[in-house]
Amino acid sequence: MAMDAVSVIRTKRDRAELSDQQIDWVIDAYTRGEVADYQMAALNMAILLNGMNRREIARWTAAMIASGERMEFSSLSRPTADKHSTGGVGDKITLPLAPLVAACGAAVPQLSGRGLGHTGGTLDKLESIPGWRALLSNEEMLHVLDTTGAVICAAGDGLAPADKKLYALRDVTGTVEAIPLIASSIMSKKIAEGTGSLVLDVKVGTGAFMKTIEDARELASTMVGLGTDHGVRTVALLTDMSTPLGLTAGNALEVRESVEVLAGGGPADVVELTVALAREMLDAAGIKDADPAKALADGSAMDVWRRMIAAQGGDPDAALPTARETHVVSAPASGVLTRLDAYDIGIAAWRLGAGRARKEDPVQAGAGVELHAKPGDTVTAGQPLLTLHTDTPDRFDYALQAVEGSYDIAAAGTDFKAAPIVLDRIA
Ligand code: URA
Repeated sequence: MAMDAVSVIRTKRDRAELSDQQIDWVIDAYTRGEVADYQMAALNMAILLNGMNRREIARWTAAMIASGERMEFSSLSRPTADKHSTGGVGDKITLPLAPLVAACGAAVPQLSGRGLGHTGGTLDKLESIPGWRALLSNEEMLHVLDTTGAVICAAGDGLAPADKKLYALRDVTGTVEAIPLIASSIMSKKIAEGTGSLVLDVKVGTGAFMKTIEDARELASTMVGLGTDHGVRTVALLTDMSTPLGLTAGNALEVRESVEVLAGGGPADVVELTVALAREMLDAAGIKDADPAKALADGSAMDVWRRMIAAQGGDPDAALPTARETHVVSAPASGVLTRLDAYDIGIAAWRLGAGRARKEDPVQAGAGVELHAKPGDTVTAGQPLLTLHTDTPDRFDYALQAVEGSYDIAAAGTDFKAAPIVLDRIA
C-alpha cells in the first residue's frame, strides 16, 4: 500500500488509531531519511497529545527493533541481567550495580547513553576515568562481558537506529515526556540488545520525566508488558526522584561516590537502591543464593569493577579530575532540611558544565554539585549546604539562579520523614 507522511500525521492528529502498516512504514521511512525530521516531529507531538493504545505501542516498538540488528548472548555461560533507569539526578547506580551483580554470578551487558538536558549519562560519568573507552566493537563488548562478567559501553550504531534518530529529535522538540515514546524507546533498545532479564528503575518526582506516581505506574506497566511479550523477564521498581540520589550530581563526582559504595561505604540511599536493584536482577536471572550486600562488603564487587574498568582502557587507580573552581552555598537558617529539589540541582549541575546543551557539546569531568545535607538532616545557619564545582567560574551565577529556591529549611524539631526510595514494584 502506498503511504505518505502527511496522512499518517493526520490520522494521529485526528485521534484515530495508526494501523500496523502505517507504523511499520513511518518508522522504516524515517530511519532511511524518506520521512523528514519536521514530519516526524509533528507525528511525535500528535502522539504526545493524543496517545497510543497497547497495540500501537507494541507495533511501534517492534518496528524500532526491526530498524537495526539484534544481539544475542547465548554463547555466555552465565544468565544475563540488565537494568535501565528512566533517568534522574545523581543517578550513578549503574556504576556500582553492574559489577555487583556480576560478582554475584550474572552477566551484565549495560548498553548506556550520554546525558542530555538535566539528567546525567552513565558514559559521561565513566569517561572521567583516565583512559576509559565507551566505544567498543560487538566482539570487544562480548570479550569484556565474558572475561569480567560486566560491560558498560555505548550502544553501537546498528542497535535500534530508529530510536537514535527519534530520541535526538524528541529532545529538541519538547516530545520526550510521552509514555508511548519513552516505553518504546527504552524497550526497543533493551529487547534488541538481547538480555534475558531486565529490571527497570522508573523514576518519579521533580527530577524525573514522570512527575506523578500514576504516570510512572502507567509507564512501568507498559514497559513490563512489552518486555514480557518479547520473552524478556521484566520487572520495574518505582523509585523516588524528588531529591538527588546520594550526595553528588556530576561526572567525576559521581564516579568517586560509586567507588565509595563499592568499597563498602557511600551514602545510605545509593547503597539501598543498588542492593534492591541487584536483588531484583539476580532474582529475574534465576540466581537465588547470592547476597549482594555481602559482595559489597567483602570487596568482590570492587574486584569486578577494577577488572571491568581496566578491560576498557581505564586506570582504576588514577586520580579523578577535579574542577578548577568551587563555590559554597551556606544554609541561611538553622533547622531541618525538608526539601532539596532534584530538578533544580540537576539544572545547576548541567549549567556548571556537567551536562550538554547540544549533542555534540563536550562535558566537564569535574563539574557538578556536591550536597552536604539531605532532606531530614538538621542544619545550622552558615554551614555549607552545597558546593558548586566548575572549570569556568562565569557559570556560577547562572547555576546559583537554579539553586535559589531549591530547598526549604523548617524550624528545628519539625517532625519530618523523608520519602522511601522504593515506592512500588510492578511485575
Ligand atoms: N531513556 C530512553 O532511552 N528513552 C527515553 O525516551 C527516555 C529515557
